[in-house]
Amino acid sequence: MIIIKNNYDIKKMQIVCKLTAQVLDFIKKYISAGISTEKINKICHNYIIDQTHSIPACLGYQGYPKSVCISLNNVVCHGIPNKKTILKNGDILNIDIALVKENYFGDASKMYTVGKCSKIAKKLCKTTLKCLYSSIKIIKPGINLNEIGKTIEKIAKKNNFSIVKEYCGHGIGKNFHEEPYVLHYYEKNQNIKLQEGMIFTIEPMLNVGKRHIFREKDNWTVKTRDKSLSAQYEHTILVTKTGYKVLTLGKNEKI
Ligand code: MF3
Ligand code: CO
Repeated sequence: MIIIKNNYDIKKMQIVCKLTAQVLDFIKKYISAGISTEKINKICHNYIIDQTHSIPACLGYQGYPKSVCISLNNVVCHGIPNKKTILKNGDILNIDIALVKENYFGDASKMYTVGKCSKIAKKLCKTTLKCLYSSIKIIKPGINLNEIGKTIEKIAKKNNFSIVKEYCGHGIGKNFHEEPYVLHYYEKNQNIKLQEGMIFTIEPMLNVGKRHIFREKDNWTVKTRDKSLSAQYEHTILVTKTGYKVLTLGKNEKI
């Protein structure tokens, strides 16, 4: 069942999503060679508690041990911040932030680069962002949900990157994850018409090499099987009467 949000829900979602985006903007100045992912987690955690007056939704979610996910280079998603992982020149990383405020969830993630990174790393990040933006731009009531995956797949293929199939976007509101589940590739049988008041995330993960992944023994860290680089961007999006509104839009961000 897809929960259609009322005006009160939308007001609360706009607040928590805006704060989620603020954390991603705030942390940017700390991303440089020498900092540990543990430290980044700590800075985000304190900002979330003290400045946004929200709760980090990842902390304790299905036993997840930290406040944010930080996924470096060949880590696809759900990287656990730790003292041993120190950022170095040329790294690319995703920081995934989810907040709860007054029982409503916001969810967003983006890529950061450390110093000078390779051409292919830049192309991967740029293409993944383009996949997200292009799929957002088609959103309006009446279109089929599977158009989102179709749009992402077309751009990824054209650029020779593979799409991770095991994880998808999701409805979000008073639940962190709810229907509809949003595939990042074309699935003809996913036949859901978008309606005004739906809120969901789109969060494509693209790899330089093959799409195959595995999970580390820690039960969270997901990596590419072939050790190739992976990138992900995520926004929380509201379907409006005439189109869409990106609820987690950053300060200087334009879709
Ligand atoms: N933020 C992730 C998502 O996009 C969920 C991370 S779950 C965690 O749905 F427990 F790993 F944080
Ligand atoms: Co999400």
